[in-house]
This record gives sequence, structure tokens and C-alpha cells, in this order.
Amino acid sequence: MSPADKPVRIGMLGCGVVGSSVARLLLADTAELSTRAGVKMELSRIAVRTIKPYEGINPSLFTTDPFSIVNDPEIDLIIEVMGGIEPARELIMTAIENRKSVVTANKALLASHGAEMFTAAYAKGEDIYYEASVAGAIPIIRPMRDSLAGDFVTRLMGIVNGTTNYILTKMHEDDREFADVLKEAQALGYAEADPTADVEGFDAAAKAAILSGLAFHTRVTVDDVYREGISKITLEDVKIAKSMDHVIKLLAIAELTPADEISVRVHPVMLHKSHPLASVRDAYNAVFVEAESAGSLMFYGRGAGGAPTASAILGDVVAVARHIALNSVGQRETDYADRDIAPIESTKTKFLIRLEVADKAGVLASIATTFANHGVSIQTVNQAGRNDDAEVTIVTHLATEGELKATVESLKKMDAVQNISSVIRVEGATSA
Ligand code: HSE
Repeated sequence: MSPADKPVRIGMLGCGVVGSSVARLLLADTAELSTRAGVKMELSRIAVRTIKPYEGINPSLFTTDPFSIVNDPEIDLIIEVMGGIEPARELIMTAIENRKSVVTANKALLASHGAEMFTAAYAKGEDIYYEASVAGAIPIIRPMRDSLAGDFVTRLMGIVNGTTNYILTKMHEDDREFADVLKEAQALGYAEADPTADVEGFDAAAKAAILSGLAFHTRVTVDDVYREGISKITLEDVKIAKSMDHVIKLLAIAELTPADEISVRVHPVMLHKSHPLASVRDAYNAVFVEAESAGSLMFYGRGAGGAPTASAILGDVVAVARHIALNSVGQRETDYADRDIAPIESTKTKFLIRLEVADKAGVLASIATTFANHGVSIQTVNQAGRNDDAEVTIVTHLATEGELKATVESLKKMDAVQNISSVIRVEGATSA
């Protein structure tokens, strides 16, 4: 098919690392991408905070007024890569109101205001595509929304934050402390000067909300996601995991509970090395999806960076431009299932608990009794003596968060228990 005569005109909001990659690639490859879309595409305007020279981008494209783009009747498609909630939300809502389709990479906005944006877009017959919002270059949104539309997802687990995966990989492979690797990650540009969003799991929680909403046909926001980061993970935890053939990973997990609720959470996990996600190293991302008919699927690749993220955005741009030319829209996310979010206390996992205890007769028995009193069954116990003290490492069978929390509270009150060094959830081991 030769590209249609009327071009699809594109306006872009933001021109940082990702936006400038998108603009350069789109300008360089316009002819070929237009042929793929079946319609001529044209990057018409780019809104920036301050106009400065960008290599490979004609300066006449820039404006400092983003509203002039979303209100321009000549523009058909908006690429939003400015990030943040406002003014991105208002600009996108204005664009939709003005009958423009949107391609966005804005995970924070989708995870907090997605419902409002989708409702408005569908009422106007426009697309919102957001492949780049989760796991950068990895095709995961459209596989979840389109390719798996005929299946039933039951569970997904993802390494969706490259910064924390880089830190945990270096702790595991080079026996280095968290703070030391974090400094290196900042120097390399993986981690921000303020690393809170990555290290404390906020970034992963936004992505977990987006993925679980798609998987379970329910509106899920970042406030629904239980979240713990990796800043409390010590080198000692990593070494113990390693000695037990596990790695520690920050996972985003979303699954259906037996009560058909959604359990969605982000926290560090001790993952058995045989699990496919355990071999995802450095700043790479991966999402492992389980579906009723498809079985297990794994999506792997670069989760950040200018060109990888631009790849996902441009794939969306080609698809949306085609819909505009054909006066149609793509597959939509749906919220018909409207499932409840399971309280974290009801989530079942295995746990590893490390305790410093007095090395005296009866101590181990009293600890075991405390677990039993709260209905928590012990799978393995290891004890390492150190003079008058001992370090005890216990792995439980499946227990609810509530049962485990109550056990830990009781352990804290015991005279023989000097310290609870860590409590880490365990996934991917062989038996329940
Ligand atoms: N800061 C994110 C990460 C990339 O470290 O993976 C953007 O989502």
C-alpha cells in the first residue's frame, strides 16, 4: 500500500533523552516508517521548556508553548515524553478533547490518572498507546492488551526497574554493599541523584499498577500497590540467598487470589536460581507472565535509555498513525472485571527470617513453638553458632503476611531473641 495523501501530523511534548531520540529517529526514518504505517507521517512541532540546539533536529520545530500544539487543529497525534503529572495530564486531556490520539511514556501519570485518560480517549474515539511506560524497549503492553486478549492471565512477575536490578546484581556478583554500588550506579547515570523513586520501589509500583490493570481487566492505581524497596537489603542477606542457591531481586508481582481478588505488590524477593527471572542481570528488565492457555511467557530486554525507549514509542506511533489514516482505533484496555484489591495481610508467600538468638538449650524449640502458635509451618532451619550467640535462618512454608507479621511480633518479645536481622519473601523454590 502506498502512503495516503493526507499526512498524519505529529506534535511532541518534551525533548529530553527519550524525546530527542524519538525526534532524531522519526526525522531520519520518516519515509520508511510512513510506508509501514501506510500513511505519510510528519513531525510538525516539539514543545520544550527552553529552546536550544539539538543535533539532527531542525530548530524551527521547537516551541516553548505546549498548548499551542495540543490546540493546533492541524496536529493529529501527540507524543508525550515530558513526564510528571502536571502539566502532562492537562495537556493530554486537552489533546484528547481536541480529537487527537496520544502516545505516552508517562508511567506515573497512567498509574494515577489512567482511568480518566482512557475514558476520555474512548469517548472521543481516540487511541492512547503507552508501550514505553513499562520496561522501555520490551514489548509488554501490546502483548498483554492485544496478543493475550483471547487468554486469561493468572499471574505476572517482573523485574521492571533497571537501577535496582543493577545494584542487586553487583551486590550478588561482586560481594559489595548496597551504598557502595548505589554510588557507582549514580556515577554511571543509572541512578538519579535522588534515587528514592527507583530504590524504594515507587517506579516499579507504577509499572505494577499498569500491568496488573491490563492483566486483570480492572482499574489499578499506584495506591493499590503494596511497596517495599531494596534499601534495607544487606550484603549479608545477599550472601545467605546465594548460599541457598537463590538471588535477591526487586519484583513486581500481580496475581489473582483464590477469592478472585488482585494481589499486587513490589518488594525484594529471594528467587531460586532456576527461575527464568533469576538470570536477568545488570540494568536489564524482564516480565514473566502466566496465562491459562499460553502457559509461561517471558519478555526480556532494555528497560530504559533513549534509543530503546524510542523504539517502543515509534512502534506505537506507526500503529496509531495507521489507525488515524483508517479512521479506526486499536484494541482497548477494559475494566469490566472490576476486581477488588486483596489486602496485603491475606497474601501467601514463603518467608526467610534471620534471627540472632542466645545459644542455649530450648531456644530453638521455643522459636519453633512461636511459629507453630501463629499457624506458620517451618520448611528449613539452619543454625550457625557464634560464641554464646547463634544466627538462626528459618524458611517457612506458605504463610499469609498477617500470620508472618504476628509471628515476628511474638519473636521480638522473646528474651532469647536478640535481633531479627531480616525478613525476606521467597519465590520460585520447588515445594510449598
Ligand atoms: N528509572 C527506571 C529504571 C527507568 O531504573 O528502570 C525508567 O522507568
